[in-house]
Amino acid sequence: MTYEVYLRSFADGNGDGVGDLAGIKTRLPYLRDLGVDALWITPWYVSPMADGGYDVADYRDIDPLFGTLAEAERLIAAVHEHGLRILIDLVPNHCSDAHPWFTAALAAGPGSAERARFWFRPGNGEHGEQPPNDWPSMFGGPAWTRVTEPDGSLGEWYLHLYTAEQPDLNWENPEVRAEFEDILRFWLDRGVDGFRIDVAHSLVKDPALPDVAGLPRGATRPWEDQPGLQDIYRSWRRLIDSYPQGALFVGEMWLRPLTRLRPYLAGDQLHTAFNFDYLEAPWEAGRLRAVIDSALRSIGPAGAPWVLSNHDVVRHLTRYGRADTGRGLRPDAGPADIGLGTRRARAAIMLSLALPGSAYVYQGEELGLWQVEDIPDQLIADPIFERTGHRLRGRDGCRVPLPWSAEQPGFGFGPPDGAAPWLPQPAGWKQLAADAAAADAGSMLALYRSALRIRRDRAAASAGDEMTWLDAEPGVLAFSRPGGLCCVVNLAAGPAELPAHEQVLLASAPLRDDKLDADCAVWLLTG
Ligand code: GLC
Repeated sequence: MTYEVYLRSFADGNGDGVGDLAGIKTRLPYLRDLGVDALWITPWYVSPMADGGYDVADYRDIDPLFGTLAEAERLIAAVHEHGLRILIDLVPNHCSDAHPWFTAALAAGPGSAERARFWFRPGNGEHGEQPPNDWPSMFGGPAWTRVTEPDGSLGEWYLHLYTAEQPDLNWENPEVRAEFEDILRFWLDRGVDGFRIDVAHSLVKDPALPDVAGLPRGATRPWEDQPGLQDIYRSWRRLIDSYPQGALFVGEMWLRPLTRLRPYLAGDQLHTAFNFDYLEAPWEAGRLRAVIDSALRSIGPAGAPWVLSNHDVVRHLTRYGRADTGRGLRPDAGPADIGLGTRRARAAIMLSLALPGSAYVYQGEELGLWQVEDIPDQLIADPIFERTGHRLRGRDGCRVPLPWSAEQPGFGFGPPDGAAPWLPQPAGWKQLAADAAAADAGSMLALYRSALRIRRDRAAASAGDEMTWLDAEPGVLAFSRPGGLCCVVNLAAGPAELPAHEQVLLASAPLRDDKLDADCAVWLLTG
């Protein structure tokens, strides 16, 4: 299992209220004891933090908010000493507007080699006052911003699929390609074990930059899955394969359905890409089964790890507590029943961890954290809030700093005399704090630990990659794995019968009369 560390919200070592490398280092024993195999750490690079660090100004150094390069090197070593691997976040689609390449591009003016590393274009309209095309920014508003030229006149526009502080790089440009191969080497030489590739579906754009108005729903958009993208990953794969530590890529590819990822995962490009079909599926047996079958058939168990939450979406515990579990990947989708969501989240992780293949866990889900939906407006840091004119509140609700100690100020996110966490934590997280949860056999943390321990023991016995669906009542998912593990998840409204079994290995809630309650899961050992 790989554990996502959202750096600014994981643990604060220096007491400034923001998570950092020193904080991660002190929590490595916690991660090892949880049963983690690898960490993915969100961007740690020098950044003005217009998008929480996904706006990189220097790819070869650490932002002072998080630590130093020497500390990063020591952290890589410490992760390895704990028997874990470390993936870092590579952000190749765009850089920061504070990156020296972009400031040079602004200064150099139209037609320059410096501008050719980005997507600068003249505007439409008589005076160039309209953006070059109709592409929207993923964060709201247009994907183009007009610049003031060195002579003070209003000039060209540049493309940014995200905030205006994140200019898109032009991957047609050989300098961009060479630079990122060098960045990969820089970190591989420092011992990282792999990379999560940010916005991996978008690096290559249709160079004609066609308008998208009128494109049919579901059509490939000119900034995704474009010819040439696979070549980039082929060359990266050759590079990474030349390193002895056996590093890997996990792509953040928002292409639906997942079957569209097949070429990228065929063996000569990315090793893995998140299974977002699984993340987006509603809490319904038929839909989950279809998504699982499709992934296993088209990609295989190794290529598309199961993932329920990350730092960009509403925590699944909250999603599963809503009346309509198929909506609400973004906030503002109606109230959630946290009790119901918790019950389902306990069952869901047992499903993820019983399936063949690997899984990702997002920090805090193992504590049973919910989405924080009442962050005061003035504290919201996600650029989505401003870019949508406050229509969407953005993603901060899943990025609230972790509670480590029930009795400490800020629930022990930082040292006792340090600044308050950068976002306020709900008072109700007290009983979910890691120290309280560790002492409670009924906690979400205890469930994650047990499930991961059983899973590891079984993997050691080389259980194989197959799964077989078993006959079950409507709304119930039941399957067996080689070696006799049988997982049953009850998504129906009433209790479900269990198949014949020798032993109950783990249950998300106590069984009653040997039946499985609604929204619960069990792992059985069958003969
Ligand atoms: C990815 C990241 C997200 C970021 C965006 C732009 O989707 O996960 O947090 O805002 O890319 O870099």
